[in-house]
Amino acid sequence: MATQVTVKSRAAVKHDVSPLITRDSFTTSLGVIAATLGSAVGLGNIWKFPFLTGVNGGASFIIVYLISTLLVGLPIMIAEIMLGRQARADAVTSLSKLAPGKPWWLVGAAGVISAFLILAFYTEVAAWVFAYIFKAALGGLLSTNPEVTGQAFNQLITDPWQSLLWQWLVLALISAIIILGVSKGIEQTTKRLMPLLFLLLVAIGVRSLTLPGAMEGLVFLFQPDFSKVTAAALLTAMGLAFFKLSIGMGAMMTYGSYFRDDQNIPATATKVMLADLTVSILAGIAIFPAVFAFGFEPDAGPSLLFITIPAVFAAMPLGHFFMVLFFILAAIAATGAMLSLLEVPVAFLNERLGLSRVMATLSTVALLALVGSTAALSNSLLADFKLFGMTMFDLYDFATSNILLPVGGLCLSLFVGWAWGFAEVKAALTNNGTLPNERLVRAVFGIIKFVTPVLVLIVLLNGLKIL
Ligand code: PFF
Repeated sequence: MATQVTVKSRAAVKHDVSPLITRDSFTTSLGVIAATLGSAVGLGNIWKFPFLTGVNGGASFIIVYLISTLLVGLPIMIAEIMLGRQARADAVTSLSKLAPGKPWWLVGAAGVISAFLILAFYTEVAAWVFAYIFKAALGGLLSTNPEVTGQAFNQLITDPWQSLLWQWLVLALISAIIILGVSKGIEQTTKRLMPLLFLLLVAIGVRSLTLPGAMEGLVFLFQPDFSKVTAAALLTAMGLAFFKLSIGMGAMMTYGSYFRDDQNIPATATKVMLADLTVSILAGIAIFPAVFAFGFEPDAGPSLLFITIPAVFAAMPLGHFFMVLFFILAAIAATGAMLSLLEVPVAFLNERLGLSRVMATLSTVALLALVGSTAALSNSLLADFKLFGMTMFDLYDFATSNILLPVGGLCLSLFVGWAWGFAEVKAALTNNGTLPNERLVRAVFGIIKFVTPVLVLIVLLNGLKIL
């Protein structure tokens, strides 16, 4: 066990959970995987990954994304889960416990803010998805003309009340699950939803692939065009890797704090990364062959999911049915991800500031309803209110994906590689020597220490045009 863990700061001691009260945790190994995968799989797979792949040239973007995932995403994910499990506390307390008296806890604090800001816009996209389940079921989106589906989307996002009410509904749903707790709420929900998500995705993928003309979509997805790999695309791919694996903002650290002692962290993280990648590729396979089969443009941008996709489904046999399934799938994905986002501030308020879980959840959600409304109203009442040339919705997305998460990840890799040290990492990742994965741990440590920070820094400075 790491020596640092036993030396606690005064703040950490004060907020330590009494040894008599066991901390709520994930109970089974399957539950750990379901919850962690539930966090990784989300609108990032169903909404961001397809439209970013579409805009950035298809296969070449996927390759850059893969490299970012392997050299940056996975190592940081392993590191974060490890730190959480070592300290068994929320993101801020974890870092103050592991580095008493040092300012590393600020990284956890930034994470709490990032989680909050992501939720502010993410709950709005989730709101559209939930609204779309009903619109699709009632036949309101059944047109093969993107102009008509575009009007339906516009009508939704420019209506302030609809935007707000659906967002509040989403907030109510996730807070109810979070209040139930880590094992009864998060674990039980994700254990049921994740298999359903895979099933739906495969069903829709098969439907899409069996359309005449589907081949062109596969070529787009799998044939690279390297002229599209620009500095901006690199930053986007890396930002996506962070967003996809829920890293750089304390979510994996918070979930790691609920991991079982006997869980093999590198193996679990790798499985989650591979399953998450599979979901992204499957989402691409569900979407692009159908887009090409019906002659739509793949690079529609963020509206791909809400304007192009309904028109694509409307054009295919059994399309009405598959359209409803598709938005249920997206809603399931969004839910698991939002649970992990909400858990970050809730765990912080609960463990660090001593609020009850119910109060911690309700106060976070109340504040979210307020801040989130600035994202929800970005297409209506606040459409002209811009900072740095962006609406609040775009600003929260850009500031988190492209700045806060990479900076958070950079700091965490520096902490693990340079401040915490190899002996601790080895003990933590081999479960105190009981797992025979020392070679792997060495490789992970080497990457975290030397490769990850350099890559993140270069891409970050380049993308922000500082380099
Ligand atoms: N990984 C989620 C997705 O791909 O949609 C989004 C996300 C969840 C980001 C949790 C960050 C996070 F902490």
